[in-house]
Order: sequence, then C-alpha cells, then structure tokens
Amino acid sequence: MKRTHNCGELSQKDSGSYICLNGWVKSWRDHGGLIFVNIRDRYGNTQLVFDSNKNIDIYKIAKDLHLEDVISIEGMVGERPVSLINKDMATGEIEILVENIIILNHSKTTPFEISDKIEINEELRLKYRYLDLRRDTLQHNMILRSRVNQIVRNFLHHQNFLEIETPYLMKSTPEGARDFLVPSRNYQGRFYALPQSPQTFKQILMISGYDRYFQIVKCFRDEDLRRDRQPEFTQIDIEMSFVDESDVQEITENLIREIFQNTINYSIPDQIKKISYKNSFEQYGSDKPDLRFDLQIKDASNIFRNSEFKYFGSDSDNFKTPGIWIPDGQKFSRNQIDQFNEYVKKLGSRGLIYLKYENSIFNSGFSKFVSETEKENLINLFESKSDGLFVFIVDEYNKAFSALGNLRLEIGKILNLIDPNEFNIVWVVDFPLLEYNEEEKRWVARHHPFTSPKGKISQSEPENILAKAYDLVINGNEIAGGSIRIHNRDEQEKMFQLLNISTEEAENKFGFLLNALEFGAPPHGGIAFGMDRLIMLLTGASSIRDVIAFPKTTSGISPMDASPSEVDENQLTELGLSLIRRQFNP
Ligand code: AMO
Repeated sequence: MKRTHNCGELSQKDSGSYICLNGWVKSWRDHGGLIFVNIRDRYGNTQLVFDSNKNIDIYKIAKDLHLEDVISIEGMVGERPVSLINKDMATGEIEILVENIIILNHSKTTPFEISDKIEINEELRLKYRYLDLRRDTLQHNMILRSRVNQIVRNFLHHQNFLEIETPYLMKSTPEGARDFLVPSRNYQGRFYALPQSPQTFKQILMISGYDRYFQIVKCFRDEDLRRDRQPEFTQIDIEMSFVDESDVQEITENLIREIFQNTINYSIPDQIKKISYKNSFEQYGSDKPDLRFDLQIKDASNIFRNSEFKYFGSDSDNFKTPGIWIPDGQKFSRNQIDQFNEYVKKLGSRGLIYLKYENSIFNSGFSKFVSETEKENLINLFESKSDGLFVFIVDEYNKAFSALGNLRLEIGKILNLIDPNEFNIVWVVDFPLLEYNEEEKRWVARHHPFTSPKGKISQSEPENILAKAYDLVINGNEIAGGSIRIHNRDEQEKMFQLLNISTEEAENKFGFLLNALEFGAPPHGGIAFGMDRLIMLLTGASSIRDVIAFPKTTSGISPMDASPSEVDENQLTELGLSLIRRQFNP
C-alpha cells in the first residue's frame, strides 16, 4: 500500500476517490458496529470509519487499535452529512470508509496523552521528546522554524551574501561566557573549545575579501540558563565589509520584515525607533526595553535632594531616586504593594517607597515627610493628572533603575497593559564600550573586545567611551546584537590594553586576528540574531525549549539521551585525562 495523500489535504472534491493514508492513531471511538479513528500526520488529521456491516475483518482489526499505533489504510473518500461536517478540521468535510488496513507498528501506552490541552511535566516531556514533538504546538513551531531558515537563506542569497561554514572546534578564548572544552586525543593536555559565536572567523572572512557572509550556526556557551537561554543555541550570523552602522541596521530591518511578513503576516513599520542605551536604562530600567506600554521611569533625585526624610535624601551622590507613576495604582492593596517591595528587594535593591495620590491628596506613611513643593514637583515631573501611585527606589544608580525596570514589567503584566498581539521593535544604540567588572576589578568589553569605539580609544574616562554597537530589541527581548569592528591592529591592541589584557595574553589568545588585521583588513561590521528567541516571538512560545527540537533542561541536561553522561575509563585514558572529582547523580 503506497501513500497517496497526507492526512491534512483531502476535501469534498476528492470524494469518491480511492486513497491510501499513513499516520498515527490520534483518537479512537467505538459506536457499536462503527469505529471512528482519527489518523494524524504532520499535515493534519483525517477521520476514518470502520463499518462492521461492510467489512467485519477490517472492523476487527480496528477494534484492537491503540492510540499512537502507526497504520496504513486504504479506502474511499466519502462526504460527511452536512450535520456532521467539522468546521474546525481542515478535512472536516470528508471521512474515509476504510477497506484495508495494515498496522505498521504498535505503540505502547504513551506516558502522557499527545495533546496540547493538558499540562505535562516538562522533565517527562523531554525524556519522551519524540512523543512530545508529535504535539500540534511543537509541530507548528518546528515547521515555522524551518520556514524561517528558508526565508533567511533566500533573502540573504539575493542580497549577495555567501553562506560559509566556520569551525566548531576552535581555540579557547573565553571572554564573556565560559567555553565548552573538547579534549584533543592527538595532543594530550590540549583542548579545542566550542565557539561561543563565529565572531573571529567571520571577521577573518572579511579580511579574506568575501564581502558579505552569513551562516545559520550553532553557538555554545556554558552559562546559567534562563527562560530564553540554552547552552547551545542558534544564531543567524552576518558580517559585511565597507559598511557603517546604518548599512548593517538596514539589512537587519529588511530581513526581519521579510521574516515577519512571510511567517505570521505581520507588517513591521517602515521606521524603526532608536533609543540610546542611557535613555533606555533611565526610562525603562533596562537595555532591552519593552515599549509596548508606557509607565516610564523618571528620575526624581533632584526633587528629593534636600528632603527632610533622611532615607530619601540619601546623602551620597551615587544614590538616585528613580520612580514610576502608576495611574490608578492607588487601588493596589497593602498586601500587593508589600509584594512589590519584596520583589525589588530580592533583586538586590533597597525597598520601595510609595505615595498614594487620591482626590488630590497624598496619603501614605511617607507623605508626611514630603513637602508641598516636593509634591507639586512630583506631579509636574510625572505629569500625573489623576489618582494613582508613586513608587520610588533610593539606591545606587544601576541597582535603583534596574530594579524599578523589573518592577515596571511586573506591573505592566498585572495591569494588563501589554497587548500580546503587538510587536514593538526598537534599536538600542550608543552603548558604553566597556563596563566595570567588580569581581575582576577591571574593565570588560560590553559587547566583545572587537567592537569599535565611537571616536578614539582613550585611557582616561573609559566609562565615557561609547561603542559602535547596536541591539535589536523586540517586546523586551534582545533579538539581535552587533557592532562595527576595530579593523586596525594598533587600535585593537589599545583595546586589549584597556581591558587589562597583557600583550603576551593578547598575542596568545588573539594573535591570529591581530596578524590578519595587518594584511589589508577592510572596515567591517555585522550582527547576529538569536534564532531561538526570534522563533519564540513568532510562535508566542513562553519557553525557548518549545522552539528547539532537542533542548536541554534549565539545569543543562537532556533527559532523553541522559547527557551529559560519564564516559569509559578507556576514553579518558586515550585523551590523557583522569578525573579528580566525580559527581554522582543518582
Ligand atoms: P551576542 O552575544 O549578543 O553577539 O549574541 C547574539 C544574539 O544571540 C542570542 N543569544 C542567545 N540565545 C539563546 N541562548 C543563549 N545562551 C544566547 N546568548 C545569546 C541573543 C543575542 O542577541 N558575535 C556577536 C554578534 C556580533 O557582534 O556580530 C554575538 O554573539 O538573541
């Protein structure tokens, strides 16, 4: 029996045809003498009818079918009576009167029902990922992901980009996340690293004259996992020669337009906003602002500078008092406000100070410490024209704004201020080139050490140097990030000095790139999209694991194949390794 159709394509116009379908038993109902089976493949479902009056042998076989058995059937397409047409099903106008069946393979009872309608423990889903992947939502996500791959390739090929693969075994150059290491058998004691991104290779391809490169590529980072992070994830990686920021941004915008239009039929506006890192941080408490709702942070430090309430007027200049005005927020219960307070404290900030404003009167424990002038200034600053709630955090600059930014998102969700169907896209630009790492007591690159500064690198006031870097943020998610690169050896060496990387270390880690920069390196720049995050947005998935066929859990394991796993002593010996510690995970 050879498959003639898939399970999602038959309709009224096929009635009377004799067809063959292959697929899995999705549902089974016995109506006494008549058995109805829904057969499923990735294209859809079709209803099968086994009628004991017409063919008792076939009916008997159908009686023994189990959910998820994989079968092949032949039969006649019949129109359903009008009253039985199922409008929710693409094939709902017809059913198949089965005349022949082969059970290709039985299925044991599955550990969970293959359905989107029930909550299934994620560990179990990942252990039986092959069954989980049969569910409609995951099939939809994988199909959309495949479509995005195709759109990206088509679009970039038409723009003269070459798809070039770069190595997965490379030199370890940790900067940012931790590397995954691969021991070398031939050179015992030496290791390859899996690339955190193809950054150096794509720059070298520009030096080699390839002009426009792209790759849909796996990247590996051994870092703490989150809702939108995986240890191996996929980038759409792009690099271009003879370009400035606006050229890379234009290609990126056009690509993202093409993807949104041709997957979910969403038109991205012609103009995409830009916001500086500083404004983004001071207005939204984040470098990836969610602009689908307002609730802007305002800096009320000046208003409270001389406050009689000591806590407010925290004497140190490093302390700031950002606040948010929440219209109608006076309705929050004491308990709710306490929870907000706990929330910002958990984020490491000192607690919240709040003021209720109702019928033109400020009333909360703190209001007695707020002078009339301060009250008036607050109303002016926040343009608060109705009843509401002011919340403030007094803390060191970064902590205060970032905790308030997180609270802003929570409140946005609680008050339903976010339209789930909107996509708000913004470029965040003018990032600082460097950030100070308290633990290491040194400046580190905010993006990566190959990012070009705006202007010259100077040793004085490193905190004030801006980068030619840009992030594309959609609905509060960093979807892509890139920069114009340093393309000159001297400049790159200066950058390493600024990062406190010694000449020797720079030579050892990045000598190959430094050398290459001396052989006619063109000006170049690029960007990389987080493909998985992009698919999350397009599908509305709430977890990155729902858009990756075989993801890892948040603790970095794969329950299906039980990796990471121990290896034979022989394998270790061959690699010249011996373990100093074993962590048994019963
Ligand atoms: P960056 O490190 O910003 O830049 O990464 C680019 C994009 O990759 C996504 N991303 C991740 N997605 C899932 N899991 C992770 N662990 C993870 N880490 C990053 C994000 C991010 O915006 N080489 C540079 C790009 C360049 O400069 O051209 C780079 O890798 O969506």
